[in-house]
Amino acid sequence: MVEAVVTGSAGMLGQALMACVPDGINARGVTRADGDLASPAGVASAIEAHSPALVIHCAAYTDVDGCERDPARAWRENAVATRFIADACRRTGARLIFVSTDYVFDGVEPRPHVEDEAPCPINAYGESKLAGEQAVAAVADHLTIRIQWVYGPGRRNFVSAVYDRAVRGEPLRVVANQWGCPTYTPHAAPLIWRAAVSPWSGTVHLAGAGIASWVDVAREALAAAEIDRDVEPLDLDEWPSPARKPRFSAMALNRWAALAGEYPPEWQSGVRAYVHDHLLTEAGG
Ligand SMILES: NC(=O)c1ccc[n+]([C@@H]2O[C@H](COP(=O)([O-])OP(=O)(O)OC[C@H]3O[C@@H](n4cnc5c(N)ncnc54)[C@H](OP(=O)(O)O)[C@@H]3O)[C@@H](O)[C@H]2O)c1
Repeated sequence: MVEAVVTGSAGMLGQALMACVPDGINARGVTRADGDLASPAGVASAIEAHSPALVIHCAAYTDVDGCERDPARAWRENAVATRFIADACRRTGARLIFVSTDYVFDGVEPRPHVEDEAPCPINAYGESKLAGEQAVAAVADHLTIRIQWVYGPGRRNFVSAVYDRAVRGEPLRVVANQWGCPTYTPHAAPLIWRAAVSPWSGTVHLAGAGIASWVDVAREALAAAEIDRDVEPLDLDEWPSPARKPRFSAMALNRWAALAGEYPPEWQSGVRAYVHDHLLTEAGG
């Protein structure tokens, strides 16, 4: 039995990871109540005390605009915490899987980003996650998995927000000129476990296959829910937000496909599954 620790297990991705632990792994989910990972004492009690051979670190301060308003907190929870966890894995020899983000890119070039491209974050969240990646790179057995546009059960997200607003008859104004690959947590979580128990190292991108704008994602969700509404396209620059957002942050998935032997499920299937298996079900629809 492999002893594993999953940080951020109360979060959206953490919940999905804990729901599909593979056979042969004894996974312990840790939350903030188990220790503040931005302190060595918190890492000792939440992680090292369990002597894991594998750590999947997905705890983070993920509110991108919140990070911009409070960059010290972003740095503490995303960069410093990850360094303490990396230090612990170096001491113990544990394999470290770090969940990172497309926001390490500036999104200027209108083409999917590859893993070896030089990162160039344009907001505090991206800067703090990139510092986390750099700390993780010092661990002998590590893998950074960059994901993006995450949605799924367990926390309010873009797809659930569009659905809720549509059901309430509220206006649907959605950014049309920002592109990425939406990632459905129940699709991504088993793939992250697969990577975690593999010998893969370095950095790899993982998301729903394809490229979409937020308008595309919203329209797919409305169609899946059979809600006859359209969205009003909005320019990214019209959306008031403290943090600058990368305009084109879709990630190339070729390395994932080469390692795994197949591409992840296409993004539309994730949106449809979420709407049918969760949003309509929870609404009694
Ligand atoms: N959401 C996205 O769209 C997205 C996109 C790209 C990459 N990612 C990455 O994917 C991973 C999972 O994201 P998610 O959306 O599932 O996150 P989430 O729902 O925001 O959950 C993150 C969890 O981490 C915990 N946490 C944060 N700082 C901590 C600390 N110092 N000590 C202990 N626990 C701490 C949070 O606890 P509290 O609630 O108590 O703060 C929260 O439960 C993150 O690494 C994120 O950077 C997410």
